[in-house]
Amino acid sequence: MATGAKSFTFLLISSLFLVSCFCAKGAQNPVPIVNGLSWTFYDYSCPKAESIIRKQLKKVFKNDIGQAAGLLRLHFHDCFVQGCDGSVLLDGSASGPSEQDAPPNLTLREKAFEIINDLRERVHKECGRVVSCADIVAIAARDSVYLSGGPDYDIPLGRRDGLNFATQNATLANLPPPTANASTILRSLATKKFDATDVVALSGGHTIGLSHCSSFTGRLYPTQDPTMDKAFANDLKGICPTINSTGTTVLDIRTPNKFDNKYYVDLMNRQGLFTSDQDLYSYNKTRDIVTSFAEDESLFFEKFVVAMIKMSQLSVLTGNQGEIRANCSVRNSDNSYLVSVVEEDLETKSELR
Ligand code: HEM
Ligand SMILES: *[C@@H]1O[C@H](CO)[C@@H](O)[C@H](O)[C@H]1NC(C)=O
Ligand SMILES: *[C@@H]1O[C@H](CO)[C@@H](O)[C@H](O)[C@H]1NC(C)=O
Ligand SMILES: *[C@@H]1O[C@H](CO)[C@@H](O)[C@H](O)[C@H]1NC(C)=O
Ligand SMILES: *[C@@H]1O[C@H](CO)[C@@H](O)[C@H](O)[C@H]1NC(C)=O
Ligand SMILES: *[C@@H]1O[C@H](CO)[C@@H](O)[C@H](O)[C@H]1NC(C)=O
Ligand SMILES: *[C@@H]1O[C@H](CO)[C@@H](O)[C@H](O)[C@H]1NC(C)=O
Repeated sequence: MATGAKSFTFLLISSLFLVSCFCAKGAQNPVPIVNGLSWTFYDYSCPKAESIIRKQLKKVFKNDIGQAAGLLRLHFHDCFVQGCDGSVLLDGSASGPSEQDAPPNLTLREKAFEIINDLRERVHKECGRVVSCADIVAIAARDSVYLSGGPDYDIPLGRRDGLNFATQNATLANLPPPTANASTILRSLATKKFDATDVVALSGGHTIGLSHCSSFTGRLYPTQDPTMDKAFANDLKGICPTINSTGTTVLDIRTPNKFDNKYYVDLMNRQGLFTSDQDLYSYNKTRDIVTSFAEDESLFFEKFVVAMIKMSQLSVLTGNQGEIRANCSVRNSDNSYLVSVVEEDLETKSELR
């Protein structure tokens, strides 16, 4: 009886404590968090995880700010295909840089994978095999937004790494093509519980980064998309002289490396690169949202944060589902180094939180 009462009191106190932690971290985020994730997940097991990642990314971006876009898109692809489980990182994944069959519009930057593996090594050197690759990708995407000039915000942590990558078919089925119109994009993202505001806000990820010609030359040849500004189209034709050109260009012509609301100003000036971008301004259910973000950057940032926290929780693995990968590119059972080093010890260490 006494023990029961004691542990009840303990439970009460610890849940009060948890509630107060919740209010401190993540309080500004009006997004419900899924069971198993937490704002304070590594506070005991790896308190420096987030600061190690941010410090290293500052260095990386000082050298090449373009890598921020690669990391942001990596998280988007991870989450949309089979959930934010780090499966996009596994060798053989359809989005991997080594995937020769994948169209270039699908392939992610090779360097993004290297950066994640390097961060994984730094974090595990400090804490042991405790922080998942999926969480590292989520934190890196958040830092990419902030370090490019965007909002800073907390994300819930505690994702586990998946054991299998998605097939190429599943990958294509979950990533809408840039040729899609706004109503198709809205319908596709509604299956993941994103509303029109979320869709317009998430598309604002295109305020940084690059695209291959093949992702938009269908708007130039054989006939020019009438919704595209003529001078803009002529510039693009210079960069991509044929429908099969292999060049690249920036997604946001005004401020290509800055995370700001200029992407929406581009759309209002008919300078959106993809049909999926420009049509957000043509379509009457999204047009006013585009205008409101172009006029008010802090409104865009607020809605972007909400949508990103939603995205970062899509079909996550938690608790003892999946694993914590020792190498983000391979699952542990395929990792000959790990298997020879006695898996048990490392698992135990990772459970100590
Ligand atoms: C809504 C549907 C979306 C479509 C159709 C789409 C399509 C694309 C395409 C075709 C590219 C260029 C790929 C290439 O040719 O190299 C691209 C790049 C990019 N996308 Fe998206 N995207 C979408 C949503 C998102 C979301 C939700 C984010 C993040 C919040 C995002 C962030 C990026 C970034 C940062 C790049 C540049 C990557 C780099 O420079 O390496 N996209 N997207
Ligand atoms: C993948 O999709 C293609 C074309 O839609 C289809 O022919 C093929 O059978 C699919 N493969 C699998 C494994 O589902
Ligand atoms: C990429 O381009 C191919 C055609 O080359 C298209 O079938 C596919 O839907 C596009 N996917 C994305 C995500 O852009
Ligand atoms: C959007 O694209 C879909 C699929 O190609 C098409 O059926 C639909 O009519 C288009 N909607 C608009 C408003 O253009
Ligand atoms: C582009 O590539 C396609 C398929 O490879 C080919 O049929 C077409 O002739 C090419 N067009 C140009 C303008 O090079
Ligand atoms: C949006 O456009 C559709 C047809 O293109 C029309 O039926 C609808 O009434 C319009 N809605 C608004 C809010 O303007
Ligand atoms: C991680 O796995 C990849 C693929 O097997 C391998 O090339 C790489 O060397 C490994 N990295 C480390 C640090 O063991």
